[in-house]
Amino acid sequence: RISDDAQEVLQAYDWMTKFYHHFLRYAKDNKEGYQYFKDRGITDETIDLFKLGYAPMSTNFTASFLDKKGFRLPLLAKAGLLSLREDATAVDRFSGRIIFPIRNHLGKTVGFAGRTTTGEKPKYLNSSESELFQKSKLLYNFDLAKKQIRKTGEVILFEGYMDVISAYQSGIENVVATMGTALTQVQARLLKRYVDTVIVCYDGDDAGIEASYKAAKLLRETGCGVKVANLSGGVDPDNFIQKHGGEYFIEKIVHASDTYISFLMRYLKRKYNLSNEGDRIHYIEAVIREIALLDSVIEREYYLQELANEFSLSVDSLKSETETVRKKLG
Ligand code: GTP
Ligand code: MN
Ligand code: MN
Ligand code: MN
Ligand code: MN
Repeated sequence: RISDDAQEVLQAYDWMTKFYHHFLRYAKDNKEGYQYFKDRGITDETIDLFKLGYAPMSTNFTASFLDKKGFRLPLLAKAGLLSLREDATAVDRFSGRIIFPIRNHLGKTVGFAGRTTTGEKPKYLNSSESELFQKSKLLYNFDLAKKQIRKTGEVILFEGYMDVISAYQSGIENVVATMGTALTQVQARLLKRYVDTVIVCYDGDDAGIEASYKAAKLLRETGCGVKVANLSGGVDPDNFIQKHGGEYFIEKIVHASDTYISFLMRYLKRKYNLSNEGDRIHYIEAVIREIALLDSVIEREYYLQELANEFSLSVDSLKSETETVRKKLG
């Protein structure tokens, strides 16, 4: 059972989800939000499915709308739907931004992300954290993705809302995203309950590869199979899909994604300068430390062989080094 307060907050989010969506879709004199999504290749059908919206450019349109409906504004401010002025009056939080309703696992809106269409900072503004809206516990689109996640035993994990929306629109439905924060153990455990493999598909920039490393490690520790997509040149999945389509994305990015150890090798290669002998040895040691953590003998052998080949080393010496590391791990 949820509290009366929570019930009221959910109702207000439901009203505003519908209102902002309707405003984006049908306001005669305001096409800004609608045009923004059109320019980014989003169809009417997708706008409707995700209930994408636009919040009127006003300091108190939403506040007075909800006030008239009898909602308690201080409660809604606490739930991050409205903002509080210094004199404690509740005012609109998302005015002039396009709205991404963030649904919980039951499909109820529990928060908004509002994106600027004019280059303002911050790019995305979220509802503030509350009991109902905790970014560390939610995964964007989990409710819609669940069916296909179960069916395929796989989930693609993105960084952003638009990655999810473009993928879904192109027919790839087992897609979720974190919301600007690092993947947490709660989220990893949730995914583990549904899938064998998580395909980490973050942006192809430095931030994306660092975040992939952390997410992949956490997922492994949680017991998930992990693969890591290899986007490069600062491209994000949304860019890629809008340019090349979903099928090409599956073929070139998802099916070509790296196994966990191959990704680690790629990641560690960026950290070490392999043309320097000392660094080369540190690289090999770092890879061995990761291989040592693999439970499967076959997997360990496979990657040790790969490493031996790459550096013209005997696989036996790498194996005995790996065993030494494993003994220390206990
Ligand atoms: P687009 O520019 O709309 O394509 O967004 P993006 O998803 O590609 O953005 P980016 O890769 O920079 O960020 C990934 C995700 O991090 C976003 O989808 C948001 O969830 C979150 N994020 C990015 N910028 C901000 C920000 O300024 N504030 C907050 N709260 N979250 C952000
Ligand atoms: Mn960014
Ligand atoms: Mn990014
Ligand atoms: Mn991005
Ligand atoms: Mn993007």
